Amino acid sequence: MKLLVIGSGAREHALCRSLSLDPDVTALHCAPGNAGIAEVAELHQVDALDGKAVAALATELDADLVVVGPEAPLVAGVADAVREAGIPAFGPSKEAAQLEGSKAFAKEVMAAAGVPTARSYVCTTPEEVDEALDAFGAPYVVKDDGLAAGKGVVVTGDLEKATAHANACDRVVIEEFLDGPEVSLFAITDGTTVVPLQPAQDFKRALDGDEGPNTGGMGAYSPLPWAEADLVEEVMNTVLQPTVDELRRRGTPFSGLLYAGLAITSRGVRVIEFNARFGDPETQVVLARLKTPLAGVLMAAAQGTLADFPDLRWSEDAAVTVVIASHNYPATPRTGDPIEGLDEVAAQDAPYAYVLHAGTRREGDAIVSAGGRVLSVTASGTDLARARERAYAAVDRIRLDGSHHRTDIAAKAAAGS
Ligand code: AMP
Ligand code: GLY
Repeated sequence: MKLLVIGSGAREHALCRSLSLDPDVTALHCAPGNAGIAEVAELHQVDALDGKAVAALATELDADLVVVGPEAPLVAGVADAVREAGIPAFGPSKEAAQLEGSKAFAKEVMAAAGVPTARSYVCTTPEEVDEALDAFGAPYVVKDDGLAAGKGVVVTGDLEKATAHANACDRVVIEEFLDGPEVSLFAITDGTTVVPLQPAQDFKRALDGDEGPNTGGMGAYSPLPWAEADLVEEVMNTVLQPTVDELRRRGTPFSGLLYAGLAITSRGVRVIEFNARFGDPETQVVLARLKTPLAGVLMAAAQGTLADFPDLRWSEDAAVTVVIASHNYPATPRTGDPIEGLDEVAAQDAPYAYVLHAGTRREGDAIVSAGGRVLSVTASGTDLARARERAYAAVDRIRLDGSHHRTDIAAKAAAGS
């Protein structure tokens, strides 16, 4: 099977790493990719948002399957353009990707499908904003309606800050605050059959102890030893299958990866958000534990044959990933700093720990930072404590001027609290 992966983050590096280990994959291409992905896939230049250009590249490469990683190309209709060129694509249509592209649309779908989520108002005027904030009270949850790379959400006890953020957005969703731990559960679907992956937990705040601003995600781990044994089954029955059924009923079936961001509240599971693609950094730990070769299941989703696909097989091992972010991330990240120590990790920590690249590029012989999240250092172990130790040992070998990372990824879960 010849594959083309679209994207350039650590998620795409994790996807390409798994695909490169799949004996059914005979050629692996990625566009635009990054310096780490270049070690496992052939890179190509393409505007990832240009469906025609992506379809032309896939045709030229004679690809059997195109995997679209990030949300922006999906919302721009890139998977549709690939399918129109007669090539199977893993990723939802432009219409179905609105589940991530518009928080208001996602709320409407959830209401129609009876999926539990925070109560909310969609507001477009300052008067509506004031009313909604007043109705729910503090802590306030204010979400920009459009795509914002995980940074359009403000959760604050400060009414002035909440009002200012709301009024800076054209259309805003204001909703009830959900407490309780967060879980990310992904499912692969062909629009009818839904296959859940293993749950993971992401750390969204920049600093230890869940302090600091929201980010795209600073680390993740899987499995979740503290979660109820029937969590996946419950989310399948109350969230994932009803949502997929509702989108099919509307004539806009969702195929690809459905990401449910959940809060486990005292009143039960609630959806915080949907995404229309693999999460980053959760994918790094979920794929670290997947034993079934990846290409076949992605192809089955793209071709509508998931019902016949054998059950996924999972490792009993735990996995932890720690994101190394550049100076000043998430505000105005500095780029162009050289990264050192990658060879040491490869020599001393493989195969249990390895470095997935996010924002990196090659400059002559050097690899330099090229984005806010730079690396996602991933490790496996018989339990979370061992996986953590290995991940942090590898993190300690890496040198990137001004960088920062959280030191508490999976710490509580590993300690059994
Ligand atoms: P989102 O982009 O919708 O995932 O929101 C980003 C982060 O904001 C989530 O991971 C949560 O930590 C937080 N958040 C979003 N919605 C809520 C809510 N209703 N209650 C509490 N926290 C929330
Ligand atoms: N880990 C959060 C996201 O992928 O949106």
